[in-house]
Amino acid sequence: VSWISWAADRCDSIQELGRWRAPRDLDAFGPAGRREGQHVVSFASNDYLGLTAHPAVIAAAHDALDRWGAGSGSARLIVGSRPVHTELERELAEWKAGDAAALFPTGFAANLGVLTALATDDVTVCSDELNHASIIDGCRLARARGAELVVWPHGELEPLATALATAAECGRRTIVVSDTVFSMDGDEAQLEALAALCVEHRALLVLDEAHAVLAATIDPGTLGCDLLRVGTLSKTLGSLGGFVAGPKPLVDLVVNTSRPYIFTTAPTPADSAAALAALRVLRSDEGAALVARLRMHVDRVAGPAHPSPIVPVVIGGDREALEASDRLLAHGLVVPAIRPPTVAPGTARLRVTLSAAHTDAHVDRLMCALGHLGLSRAP
Ligand SMILES: Cc1ncc(COP(=O)(O)O)c(C=O)c1O
Repeated sequence: VSWISWAADRCDSIQELGRWRAPRDLDAFGPAGRREGQHVVSFASNDYLGLTAHPAVIAAAHDALDRWGAGSGSARLIVGSRPVHTELERELAEWKAGDAAALFPTGFAANLGVLTALATDDVTVCSDELNHASIIDGCRLARARGAELVVWPHGELEPLATALATAAECGRRTIVVSDTVFSMDGDEAQLEALAALCVEHRALLVLDEAHAVLAATIDPGTLGCDLLRVGTLSKTLGSLGGFVAGPKPLVDLVVNTSRPYIFTTAPTPADSAAALAALRVLRSDEGAALVARLRMHVDRVAGPAHPSPIVPVVIGGDREALEASDRLLAHGLVVPAIRPPTVAPGTARLRVTLSAAHTDAHVDRLMCALGHLGLSRAP
């Protein structure tokens, strides 16, 4: 069988399962735009504060393009950093209360890079079963390098405690890795309990804060364990890239041994400049106002107890979830249906993401359409 017919057969079976996916054009600046000729409002983006379209963020990217050109040319350790990379790392480290930070081309690469740099063959890595695909793949790569992998059931800390104790008995060092906000459920990790287990077993805690825009500030000193914080520049910060921040020896080791840091071209100066400008907005009074506005939208759609801008509406069947998404599109609303393998079979869902850039009228339309379909999450 030729590779082409093998691939065509595989594509056919994905289609027969109703799991076919293809990107569609969205011509938009912010949440409102046109999709294939139709005016739509998107509730699909992770641009939580609307910073992709912030004038200061756009201006910073323009200035960086004019000053340093479009690309970085090579990896940082080969060609050198642009000053904006170093400045961004310094401010990310300060924001995350770490001594140092290192940039990656994406958040996905950051997770691969951190886990493969630190999880050597004398290490047991423990990972929450609902962690993001980039953590899962980082764990798989670590396992290929000889690390042991334990996946604990989401939200159940007893199996994690047992795994940490067993690893300690065998003299193995341990890493606990978790999203702080889970990307398909929008729920939060039990940070204090995770940190307490890490303190007890001298484990390194690696937190992925990609979606933590509404979460309380983490104080590494209060958590008390060794902590590395992974983040993305591509969601709340409206640009593209990833980073890790934390104690200098750990970050230095990542820079010196992490293949997704060493063997890849540095982030573009424009992306880094945009992220730096966005970070400054986020840490200003304007940023606090945007976060408050986002919180207000989340309160309306999911209630004040919901901890994140990711609001899942679990439907169950794949086809039913797709139909619900299509019906929302008929109302001019883009709300993606998330199906296996991204989520477990039987838990296909609509994933609503809210942004400070949504107007009150956008959220009215969403609430009205969800209510019309009998899918309202409102408290
Ligand atoms: C929890 C989590 N970590 C990491 C990533 C990857 O980040 P990036 O999009 O910057 O590669 C994502 C993106 O979807 C995510 O949801």
